Amino acid sequence: MTSFDERFAAASDACTVSVLRGPRRTPAAAFSALAAACSDFGITKADWYGAEGGAVELLEARVAALLGKPAAVFLPTGTMAQQAVLRVWCERRGSWRVALPDLAHPVTHEQDGPRLLHGFRFEHLTTGRTVATAAHLAAVTGDLGAAMIELPLREAGCIAPTWDELQELSTAARERGVPLHVDGARLWEVAPFYEGRALADLAGLVDSVYVSFYKGLGAFAGAAVAAAEDVVADVRRWRRRQGGEMFQMTPYALSALLALRDELPRMGECVAWARTFAAAANGLRVHPEVPQSTTFVLYADRSPEEINDRLLAFLEQERANLCARWRPTEVPGFAQCEVTVTTTALAHDPVHVAELVAKVALG
Ligand SMILES: Cc1ncc(COP(=O)(O)O)c(C=O)c1O
Repeated sequence: MTSFDERFAAASDACTVSVLRGPRRTPAAAFSALAAACSDFGITKADWYGAEGGAVELLEARVAALLGKPAAVFLPTGTMAQQAVLRVWCERRGSWRVALPDLAHPVTHEQDGPRLLHGFRFEHLTTGRTVATAAHLAAVTGDLGAAMIELPLREAGCIAPTWDELQELSTAARERGVPLHVDGARLWEVAPFYEGRALADLAGLVDSVYVSFYKGLGAFAGAAVAAAEDVVADVRRWRRRQGGEMFQMTPYALSALLALRDELPRMGECVAWARTFAAAANGLRVHPEVPQSTTFVLYADRSPEEINDRLLAFLEQERANLCARWRPTEVPGFAQCEVTVTTTALAHDPVHVAELVAKVALG
């Protein structure tokens, strides 16, 4: 850690107001919220390896219902969840080839685990900042164990296909007999983009979905895979085999239940806030120009060091956790900042926050 990192972390911890960086609750505060949630959700006993009643089964039933799938299974991480479900599809199909974006999480963030542990052969469905369509799937010829899309594609600025594009991709995968899996790490956060469509409509276009409880929802951690009963039963076996069947998962499941109850209903407001912010961020480039989810990226024609110096001064003076630190881009002298709007931001005026961020960024 450099002295700048230390100063930044200290200033961030000392903030009394949170804007575009979520409030860091103390473990004690988070655990008392869980204790209260036990009575809210009628949880009187802990789970036993995720079974025998209790919070985990309640959470699984809730996720299955929200996504309109027959079953769902809780897993400790999305990384494990997706490797498990892709394994299930590939074994069934007798092919280890999986078509997915080159920017997808299993390609970019899992240290080659999917190949080393399961032997997947990844084929690039898309390259770079592109949303996957039926044409992309058609271009990956030969047998496939599964096709996977990330909805929204995080490393591309959280961009998502239109409903029509999704429908066409779904039809193409079904006609070809290829299981279509969705990395929905931010599915809750992008759902408002598909105005008038329920989460179950989205999930209905695909064969399996992974969702996360800790990104925009802010639970401790955890993931779920929703699919047909037999697929979920096989994913459970892989959860066990991969060492993901913790003796008691009640704390994680409870925090996820709380997040689904309190945060999920406000995702539409978060996306609307993001759009108002984006429209008011004068002098900054916003990608995508109109945010499609609660997450988007800001670009500024300044060096990250210059901006972070100003951001640190702002944090120290105002004690308000405005936004994350800015990072370098591929273009020398330009900086970028990924913004995620959570319910914390809703207490602030998006236009005013955009003005503050632009001032910090541009000087
Ligand atoms: C798009 C996407 N997929 C999967 C994951 C994996 O989630 P986890 O951290 O629970 O393993 C992440 C985590 O950041 C992600 O952003």
